[in-house]
This record gives sequence, C-alpha cells and structure tokens, in this order.
Amino acid sequence: MNILVVGNGGREHALVWKLRQSSKVKNIFVTPGNAGTAQIAQNLDISKTEEIIDWLKINSADLVVIGPDNYLSEGIVDKIQEIGIPVFGPTKNASEIEWSKSFAKKLMLEENIPTATFQIFNDFNAANLYIRNQKLPLVIKANGLALGKGVVIAENLIQAENAIKEIMSNKIYGDAGREIIIEEYLQGKEISIHAFCDGENVALFPASQDHKRIFDYDKGPNTGGMGTIAPVPWVTDKQMEEIEEKIVLPTIEALRKRGRIFQGILYPGIMITETGPKVIEFNARFGDPEAQSYMRILDTDLVDILFACVRGNLKSENIKWSNKSACCITCASRGYPSVSEKDKTINGLETARGIDIVIFHAGTKKEGNVTPTNGGRVLGITATGNNLSQSLTSAYEAIKSVSFDGMQYRKDIGAKSI
Ligand code: AMP
Ligand code: GLY
Repeated sequence: MNILVVGNGGREHALVWKLRQSSKVKNIFVTPGNAGTAQIAQNLDISKTEEIIDWLKINSADLVVIGPDNYLSEGIVDKIQEIGIPVFGPTKNASEIEWSKSFAKKLMLEENIPTATFQIFNDFNAANLYIRNQKLPLVIKANGLALGKGVVIAENLIQAENAIKEIMSNKIYGDAGREIIIEEYLQGKEISIHAFCDGENVALFPASQDHKRIFDYDKGPNTGGMGTIAPVPWVTDKQMEEIEEKIVLPTIEALRKRGRIFQGILYPGIMITETGPKVIEFNARFGDPEAQSYMRILDTDLVDILFACVRGNLKSENIKWSNKSACCITCASRGYPSVSEKDKTINGLETARGIDIVIFHAGTKKEGNVTPTNGGRVLGITATGNNLSQSLTSAYEAIKSVSFDGMQYRKDIGAKSI
C-alpha cells in the first residue's frame, strides 16, 4: 500500500513511524513532513489542501491520514472522498465539533453530555453585562480555531472585561472571536481521551495527560503541549467506562443523528471533577504530543485500525495496547510559545541513550548533514518502561545528550502522577 500522511509535526512523525512497522505498507509520503519523516518516508514539498488534492489526482494513494485540525475545517476529507480515495479523518461537518466551540457546546447541552455550564455571545455589551453576576473565575473562549490559544481564565472582573474586549473588539484571534463562549471554571484534574471512531462504534485508547503550560508546575502561557504520559496511572476503569458511556458514544451518536458521520479520532479534553468527568473541549484528530506517547504503546497494526474506521467495521478489530508506560518530553525553541527561534543546529540525535528511546521530530528540517531547528516545538523524546517512573527516568536520561541553542523543556512531566 501507498499511504499519504498530511502534516509536519511530532504527531505525524509518530504516525509514520508506526505505519512503517506494518508489512502491508510500501511507500509513505508526507506533506510536507520534517527531517524525521524524511528518514523513514518520502517528504513532498507541498502543504496546501489544493496542492495535496492535485498530487492525489495524479499519483493516487491507498489511504490518506490527516494530522492537523486546520485541514479538517477546510474540508480536505470531503475533497479526498470526492476523488474516491480512502481517507482517515472526519468530514468538514463532522469536525465542526472541534472548529466551532459553540456548535460543540450546544450539542452537549441538547444531548445532556457533561460539560461546564455556559452562555454564547456575539454581542459585546451583552457579554459584559452577563459577567457581572457570575461566579469567578470565569472562562472566556473565542468560538473558532485559534491555534490552541483563544482561552482566557479570568480570575476577576477586570480580566474578564479585558478578555472580552481583546477577543471581540480588538479581534486578536481574528474571525475566531466573532462569537465567544463564557463558561463555568471546572475544578479538577485534566486528561486527554482519544477514541478511534468508525461513525458508529468507538474504541477508546488508554487515558493520557498533556502538560500545556510552558514552565514547570504549570506556570506560564499555554502551548501546543510540552509533554505527555500514557496511560495515566490514577485513572480508573470505572472512570474510563463513564467517559465512554456518557461522553464518547453519545457524542458520536448525536453527530450521526444530525447526518454528520464521524470517522477518525475523537479527542475530548476531560476534566475529572468531584461530580465526574466533564468535557472541556472536543478535538477531531490525534493530539500532539499525545500521539507520540500513544504510538509507542499501540500493539496492533495501525493500518488495520485506520481502514476499519474508514470502512465502518471497527467492531471486528481487536485493538491491543502494550502493558508498558510511555512518555514524551517536548524540546522547544527559545521564545516558544510566542516567537520561536529557528535555524539552530541540533546535536546528539544519533547518540542519545536510554532504555527504549525513540526521538520524534517536529520543527526540524534536513540541510545536508545537519538538522537545524525549524519551529517552536522541535523534538519529542519518547520512552517506554514497565511503569511511568521507569519511562520518565529513561527519557530524562536521553534528553541530556540532546542540545541546541535555546533548547527548553519541562522537568516535571508526569511528576504529579507518580
Ligand atoms: P481549550 O483550548 O478549550 O482546550 O482550553 C485550553 C485550556 O484551558 C484547557 O486545556 C484547560 O486547561 C483550560 N480550560 C478550558 N476550559 C476550562 C474550564 N471550563 N474550566 C477550567 N479550565 C478550562
Ligand atoms: N495536545 C494538545 C493538542 O493536540 O491539542
């Protein structure tokens, strides 16, 4: 089989790495990929939806796998389906659950899916009036995609007023902020849930946990993700059952009833609260860096699972996860998550040592014999172990050998779960 993977992050390198292990796979193409994918697949120097469609019309593929969310909201899946090529990922209308927070919130309200209470506003004055009588802190969100930003946790009225002004009047997230959601602040522990979905059936992954803030002890601004662990040792089977029964299955069913057949990965961010798990947001794709940990412990051929989702026969797939524990530590550039430095030479990629280490590339490029940095998140150092503590020890040992000017990483990934 020939497979095309769309994207250029650590998630895509991890997916390509896993796909490479399948005996069914011959060629893997990546648009545009990075220096890591170039080692195990063929990068194509294209990245726009239309360029990818044009390439597929000429070259075809047996399966296309979509990594990032922005392609989903552009309807890349619908366009690939139109030319008759199997594609893993939800259509534009099914992925609205990610690209419109107000759509997701209304759906949850109508279907009784547990989430923070909320109000939606497209009027600046009405939003300002509303916050006067609400319990603090309040969470203020731009409705559309805002590159993982667009969420403000306001501790007091002044912060809330500022957030509304910035998003609605000053349009710091552009059109994404035309509508805002003001919601209740959920207290609890946050986890990432992923489920393979075939439109009707679902198969949950073990729970994982991202670390979104840039600095140790969850300080500083939010990032795309500074590190993950999977599974999360304190999440119980009962909680996972509750998440499947009360959140994942009802969501897929609600979408199906509305003519939005969801095939792909449903990834709800979940807060485990005192009154049970509640949805923070929905994503319609693999998380990054979640995928980097997950691919290390998935024991079933990924090609088989992706096809089962696309063909609607996930029920017949017996998905196995190893009993190991995985982690991923993100190495980021100086300046991330605002303006990141680039073009720094990375050292130690070949010599990094530790038990069961795989290094996934994100913002890297290949230039002759050197691999310079090329973005905010640069590498994901992943390890597995018999338990969380072993995998973390191994990853933090390996990271000592890797360096580039300005490299920053969190020292406390997984620490709260040990
Ligand atoms: P989102 O982009 O919706 O995932 O929000 C970014 C981050 O803000 C989440 O990962 C949470 O840590 C936090 N967050 C979002 N909504 C809430 C909420 N209602 N209560 C508490 N924290 C929240
Ligand atoms: N790990 C966060 C995300 O992929 O959205």
